[in-house]
Amino acid sequence: MSHLVAPSILSCDFAYIARDVEMINNSAADWIHVDVMDGVYVPNMSFGIPVVAAMKRHSRKPLDVHLMTVTPERYLKQFREAGADSISVHVEACTHLHATLQEIKKLGAKAGVAINPGTSIAVLEDIITDIDIVCFMAVNPGWGGQSFIETSIEKIKKLRVLINQTGSKALIEVDGGVKMDNAQRILDAGVDVLVSGSGVFGEPNPIAAIQTLKSLVRK
Ligand code: DX5
Ligand code: ZN
Repeated sequence: MSHLVAPSILSCDFAYIARDVEMINNSAADWIHVDVMDGVYVPNMSFGIPVVAAMKRHSRKPLDVHLMTVTPERYLKQFREAGADSISVHVEACTHLHATLQEIKKLGAKAGVAINPGTSIAVLEDIITDIDIVCFMAVNPGWGGQSFIETSIEKIKKLRVLINQTGSKALIEVDGGVKMDNAQRILDAGVDVLVSGSGVFGEPNPIAAIQTLKSLVRK
């Protein structure tokens, strides 16, 4: 399978969300990455359920919702009804992870687990075959525009080994600090989905930037 590209709508101009969603519709992007922050799990707030529903009304690409919230299990149904096609919860925020993943699948969405830079890949060992997407954080969650944490490369390779060894179907989605000048290297570590916010929206021609990310070939 060739890799997927998911621009992060967090870096769009929120005064013109429909316009920026339409830009993604017209691009080579596979998904739209949607960052929900509650101001508790992360020290920042972004947007919630009504805004995701509004994006859905304009989007022709699947919405990949990344919940940076405490007790994410409380809102799964609402986000699914708002139009989330995949829902990732943080392993650090979710007490009953196995049950939560089953619930997401029961709602008909892909089940994702997000993991922070300070959390060991080992916590995924016993759950990896139940996961559809590992949202691998290469920055600390909370803001777009941060620098890629270099030690992520070795961690991604470890995660790739874990997935291959267990026969898990999980996709590795790298989230944070993915730019035009490091995307190839990150992809080569074994990534399946490239999320990029400021890397796409910070370019003079975001459609071309998405195309550049999509044209990379994983070695
Ligand atoms: C960070 C978010 C990321 C963010 C990535 O908390 O989870 O999805 O939008 O932004 P960039 O690509 O600018 O690092
Ligand atoms: Zn994210």
